Amino acid sequence: MSVLQFDERGTRHIVRLYSTPDVVRQRAEVLALLAARPGERVLDIGSGPGFLVASLADAVGAEGAVHGLDRSAPMNAVARDLVADRPWVRIDDGDAVELPYPDGDFDAAVSTQVYEYVADVPRALSELRRVLRPGGRALVLDTDWDSVVWHVVDRALHRRVMTAWEEHLVHPHLPAMLPGQLLRAGFRVTGRHLIPLFNPRLEENTFSALNIEMIARFVRGRQGLTDEDVEAWTADLRERGAEDAYLFSLNRYCFLAVAE
Ligand SMILES: C[S@@+](CC[C@H](N)C(=O)[O-])C[C@H]1O[C@@H](n2cnc3c(N)ncnc32)[C@H](O)[C@@H]1O
Repeated sequence: MSVLQFDERGTRHIVRLYSTPDVVRQRAEVLALLAARPGERVLDIGSGPGFLVASLADAVGAEGAVHGLDRSAPMNAVARDLVADRPWVRIDDGDAVELPYPDGDFDAAVSTQVYEYVADVPRALSELRRVLRPGGRALVLDTDWDSVVWHVVDRALHRRVMTAWEEHLVHPHLPAMLPGQLLRAGFRVTGRHLIPLFNPRLEENTFSALNIEMIARFVRGRQGLTDEDVEAWTADLRERGAEDAYLFSLNRYCFLAVAE
């Protein structure tokens, strides 16, 4: 069955989800770790709605250049609108496994929440290495969906929902593989960082509240989950919220590497 689609609807959802304070904070940590400098050429692979591209553009300034690349036309349309006032930014159509740039074209490259959707990660990392100059920096961030803590009463149903949700991407447990894969692609791993997302209450405009909607829509009909099952799962979480017994956390894993 198909993975999550970044079509018009998926794009609208990602725009809302990635505008939450939880993900805004995550982006600030990513920016600080990559530490793009004025005048640098930076690539964002799988740039989605372009929020990180816009911040990178401000970091490198008009003397630098930022390229965002994504294979989703709706995502690229949103990103182009966002950065229309920064002529040193380009949003390119393309695939992470076949980057449309010459060897050594960039000083730094970033890819957050993308390789977990890419079937051939070694090929994508070898492309990442190819387009960086020797000594260029890479930052790769992905989620391990085993890191989710979500308090529910019906744990058996919750496990079925989360198993079905793992079908939304190709690699639900990619982070542990990344250091070895980066090494084999020609990188030296220089940093390993944990970025937790934590929602101690069920509140609107949080990562977990918006994910309840997305997961409920995605898992229906998978792993034998009926409409009633999915409604029972969402009701369980909402009741925990009403009782002040809600707790959600999830870890992003971030790796910094230098092209050898
Ligand atoms: C979850 S979103 C993350 C967007 C962005 N990196 C961020 O963190 O805000 C995943 C993005 O990766 C893109 N994507 C997935 N597979 C890709 C591939 N093989 N090549 C290029 N983009 C890809 C999707 O279209 C989507 O925009």
